[in-house]
Amino acid sequence: VSTTLIIAIDGPAGSGKSTLGNALASRLALETLDTGASYRALAAAVLEAGIDPNDRGEVARFARDATIDPGRGHVINGKDYSARLRAEEVNQAVSVVAAIPEVREVLVGWQRRWVLAHGGGVVEGRDIGTVVFPDATIKLFLTAHPKVRARRRSLEGLASIERRDRLDSTRVTSPLGAAEDSWSIDTTALTVEDIVTMVIERLESQKQGSER
Ligand code: CDP
Repeated sequence: VSTTLIIAIDGPAGSGKSTLGNALASRLALETLDTGASYRALAAAVLEAGIDPNDRGEVARFARDATIDPGRGHVINGKDYSARLRAEEVNQAVSVVAAIPEVREVLVGWQRRWVLAHGGGVVEGRDIGTVVFPDATIKLFLTAHPKVRARRRSLEGLASIERRDRLDSTRVTSPLGAAEDSWSIDTTALTVEDIVTMVIERLESQKQGSER
């Protein structure tokens, strides 16, 4: 039995993954990994290279040849894309790029190495509980009312997040979805503190159960 603490957080855009992830990480003294940031950085790098995001072959080749900084997933081929991660053109391209199996293979490998190097962590994305860490200590699947999610992503807008959610949920490789053994939490009417308390309690009782 692994003692490495891995907290997997999945869910659609604006469901509260990063907010909860950061709060849990500070309570548990873990580091956080925002896997969406590297899908976004890769999409930004693809656009910058003048590659059509719909050209699967070219994007796959670009991803395979890319060097991703081992500690910082938003640094690709030596360039820091953090300022551009939420640009409109990246919102448009990221779910198309993320649907390409070779892109996922490259980034999932990077994510697993990151967690190994950090001895665990809070990892958030779309396929963490289902594909990347199926043995995570706890798997959370966050949802929230679309109006609330749109408010949390006000710059991007409801139509754009719904488009990403549709592309992410319907792709063939690693679609967005709750793992069978995940805990679904609707964050619409809960505070971050409420959820942190619930999750810590569950982790404690899991731990007692496994020690018994
Ligand atoms: O923060 P928000 O929920 O708006 O999105 P994000 O986590 O930054 O992810 C951006 C996009 O990356 C998603 O819409 C997915 O297309 C892709 N993604 C993915 O496919 N798998 C992940 N584990 C994380 C993100």
